[in-house]
Amino acid sequence: MYATEENITGLAEARWATATDPRTAEIMTALVRHLHEFTREVALTESEWMRAIQWLTAVGQISDDKREEFILASDVFGLSMLVVQMNHRLAATATPATVIGPFHIDGSPVAEYGADMSDGIDGTPLWVHGRVIDLDGNPVPNAILDVWQADGDGAYEAQLGVDEARLRALYATREDGTYCIRTIKPKGYTIPMDGPVGDLISRTAISHFRPAHIHFLIDHPGFKRLVTHIFEEGAEYLDTDVVFGVKEPLITPFVFHDSGTAPDGTVMNSPYATAEYNFLIEAE
Ligand code: BEZ
Ligand code: FE
Repeated sequence: MYATEENITGLAEARWATATDPRTAEIMTALVRHLHEFTREVALTESEWMRAIQWLTAVGQISDDKREEFILASDVFGLSMLVVQMNHRLAATATPATVIGPFHIDGSPVAEYGADMSDGIDGTPLWVHGRVIDLDGNPVPNAILDVWQADGDGAYEAQLGVDEARLRALYATREDGTYCIRTIKPKGYTIPMDGPVGDLISRTAISHFRPAHIHFLIDHPGFKRLVTHIFEEGAEYLDTDVVFGVKEPLITPFVFHDSGTAPDGTVMNSPYATAEYNFLIEAE
């Protein structure tokens, strides 16, 4: 049968239904159906279609092993957060999951309890400490906390092309489930705006900032892997996070001290901050 404007959706769906893997067939037929519906709904013109193709081409061309413009696009469309939420329907009391973002690096160095992952980088010293516990409140010893964050200019190591690990480390919980990280206070930052995603965003009223946060990937055999962040209470952009990553239980106070004894016993004669946060992880 030859295609007409009326029958082309059915014809294309039928073709893609022949995928040998049933899940691929399900996904591709739905994709074709929704693409056609979208095209009809907005009455897409040929020049708009060409601009969309050029935009997708630019997203691919700017991407490499350090820059993931497709992930960024997915993030700002709210797609990443939708996928996270559908796939991590955790207990109401569990620490919620959020986006991993494009800047996680595998193989961070192992750090001791209280070790400084900021290693001389400018910023207010910050201790993040607390416990990793199960949903009954029992400590989870030997959980690995893979931690990463941006520097005071909002730059991640992956964006700087440096050789040494920078603002990232692997911490383990102790027998009583406690962990302690020394770092610097994170700041809010803009997502990369020099590519096709930024170009699109700049033609809207969308804020291109993320509120100050620190990333965590928490792993322990027998528990669901948790990818999350903690956010500073009162930080700018909490209500407008460009990637929709904020969840109420992930917001925590950062307490400022002029001097004193930090959670790992370090005596501080200059200002520093502390944040106490317990991660509640769900058994597999
Ligand atoms: C991040 O938090 O690292 C991030 C997440 C999504 C897009 C850009 C950055
Ligand atoms: Fe981040």
